[in-house]
Amino acid sequence: MLQAVDQRTARLRATTDLTPDIRLFEIEPDGAFVPPPPGSHLDIRVRIGDRPDLRSYSIVGPCADGLYRIAVKLLPHSRGGSAWMWSLTPGARLSFTGPHDTFPLGTGRPDYLLVAGGIGITPIYTMATALARAGATLRLVYAARRACDLAFAGELREILGERLTIVTSETGGRVDLAAGIAALAPDGELYVCGPIGMLEAAKHAWQASGRPPEKLRFETFGSSGRFATVPFTVRIPRLGLEIAVPENRTMLDSLEAAGVAMISDCRKGECGLCALPILAVDGVVDHRDVFFSDVEKAADAKLCTCVSRVAGGTITIDTADREG
Ligand code: FES
Repeated sequence: MLQAVDQRTARLRATTDLTPDIRLFEIEPDGAFVPPPPGSHLDIRVRIGDRPDLRSYSIVGPCADGLYRIAVKLLPHSRGGSAWMWSLTPGARLSFTGPHDTFPLGTGRPDYLLVAGGIGITPIYTMATALARAGATLRLVYAARRACDLAFAGELREILGERLTIVTSETGGRVDLAAGIAALAPDGELYVCGPIGMLEAAKHAWQASGRPPEKLRFETFGSSGRFATVPFTVRIPRLGLEIAVPENRTMLDSLEAAGVAMISDCRKGECGLCALPILAVDGVVDHRDVFFSDVEKAADAKLCTCVSRVAGGTITIDTADREG
């Protein structure tokens, strides 16, 4: 869903490859520069095929020089936003809104545990550097598949020293969330950004520790599920529609393109606005949201169409509360 409000323009000043598939973009806004607090995002207007769309990217670093920086991971099965960003060269014009403070960092806490998985390092890096500058007590656990997938690792090592733990799955490493939480001061906060599996594990470990839910803050990106991303079919008997969802498009985008009136906001599996009731499913629903509880996901009564998919097969849904 495109928002016309507060659209601003900018010029792409430069790009730098941080890893083989993570590229840093330096964006020079036209007009006033609004300083972004840690955890802020820019919503960038991209083109997916022949139509415009929005993609939300975490802002990297303090941006003290008046430039916004974002880091974009090129995803082979993405809906096309990352491929569009990677097609840009310096001098390109951009349209955006923001900064939006959607993953706010609390200040003045006695202790912080930050956990990042993959490209989830972008807001966490910004939080870690801001907290270190402020003299806060923190630890950062940064997990990636391979050493070559780590972005900002050198800088983080320099700033954090022994307060940084790097875990790579290629060497058999795993993030010990329970131990990290146990070492956190009683009023400390946990900030997590990573794939859905990491967030679910963090939620479980936090819950098991008996700590207050509001002291766990997280953000996800809806690109990772339990199953591979494959095409599937959506049937809507109420509207007499059968819609193919290709590998590189979300169910929400496919429904909108077919003319189904949808409601959405975050498009990251967090707010639940895009959820629709499931009437039947032939295949397995790959719930990729953090909105529904484990019990709700197991019941397969609804799914968040912006991120969740079907692992092959057909899903039949209802749109009773929407207009076709
Ligand atoms: S739009 Fe927020 S969960 Fe889908």
